[in-house]
Amino acid sequence: MSRSVPVGLGARAYDVVIGKGLLAQAGERIAPFTRRGRLAVVSDETVWALHGPAFTAALEAAGLAVCPVIVSPGEQTKSFEGLADVSDRLLALELDRGDLVCAFGGGVVGDLTGFAAAIYKRGIDFVQVPTTLLAQVDSSVGGKTAIDTPRGKNLVGAFHQPKLVLADLDALSTLSDREMRAGYAEVIKYGLLGDFGFFEWLEANGQAVLARAPAALAHAVARSVEMKAEIVAEDEKEQGRRALLNLGHTFGHALEAETGYGEALLHGEAVAAGQALAFRFSAAQGLCSAQDAERATAAIAAAGLPTRMDEIPGAPFDADRLVRHMAQDKKAEAGQLTFILARKLGEAFVAKDVDAHAVRRFLVDEGALG
Ligand code: GLY
Repeated sequence: MSRSVPVGLGARAYDVVIGKGLLAQAGERIAPFTRRGRLAVVSDETVWALHGPAFTAALEAAGLAVCPVIVSPGEQTKSFEGLADVSDRLLALELDRGDLVCAFGGGVVGDLTGFAAAIYKRGIDFVQVPTTLLAQVDSSVGGKTAIDTPRGKNLVGAFHQPKLVLADLDALSTLSDREMRAGYAEVIKYGLLGDFGFFEWLEANGQAVLARAPAALAHAVARSVEMKAEIVAEDEKEQGRRALLNLGHTFGHALEAETGYGEALLHGEAVAAGQALAFRFSAAQGLCSAQDAERATAAIAAAGLPTRMDEIPGAPFDADRLVRHMAQDKKAEAGQLTFILARKLGEAFVAKDVDAHAVRRFLVDEGALG
């Protein structure tokens, strides 16, 4: 059983197909997007070792010629060096614009491959086959592609929509529990930002999602993708409403910057703590009720995710340093702080011109060094 969620972008519209057993059907599903029966598959060593042989067999069974481009796992691959390496290997394969590139892996592989596809010979088609929960519910959908630079994450990139996203729920069976929880932070985000009914459903069914119970997992991924697809279709280039998808990300990015973007704090864990902080900051500013902030915090904590800075390795953090990271966030316009804040559970909004002093005071109240 699978279901398709359309991303309605006119000439650039595509489907996100969600279900079990999709890797085995990859050949027949991807073949229509190749013009010459050939595709380069960019993946990392971990994903390729686990799923590469089955994926290759499925593609070859449909008559496709597969050219693997395997990169090192980890955020450091999402760099100018990583981009140069992938681009050079695609050139060595003599891929042209009639060929196809496939991103097969998590967010790092998807973002890097998507950006390489966006600029390779001024743009080549690509498909996303995400293998982590985070990539399935967030990064593979919506066409944001990027690499990191020493100045920060995702600072150089392009909007380049895939032709198809294949989200095989079976691929999540090899994910660690920690990676599942990190992806779940982006799932709960959809409930918190715009669907109170989904938030309540997650309060009741979150443990089943984390345990990978098939029906619960399928609903959580599908509802997340539906919400993302709807927002992206309305605001592809993040001129307005798409920014809501950054709920928890301004606080989260500051914490990631302080912890070095590594294993100490995964992106999803930072976003989890960031969402709890965003709700509590909203309550501190009188924008939402303390009860709603507590309920958001409790739901995130129930998933085993951090909600307070003292749960994060390296705490206590310096309030001024955190605010400086926030001011450098790419969402900051003309030096003013932009946050996604909440009016209530299921209703977030974009707050521009947030007072940095108020943020600093809040962080000190939350345990940061003043
Ligand atoms: N991950 C946020 C977005 O795609 O807009």
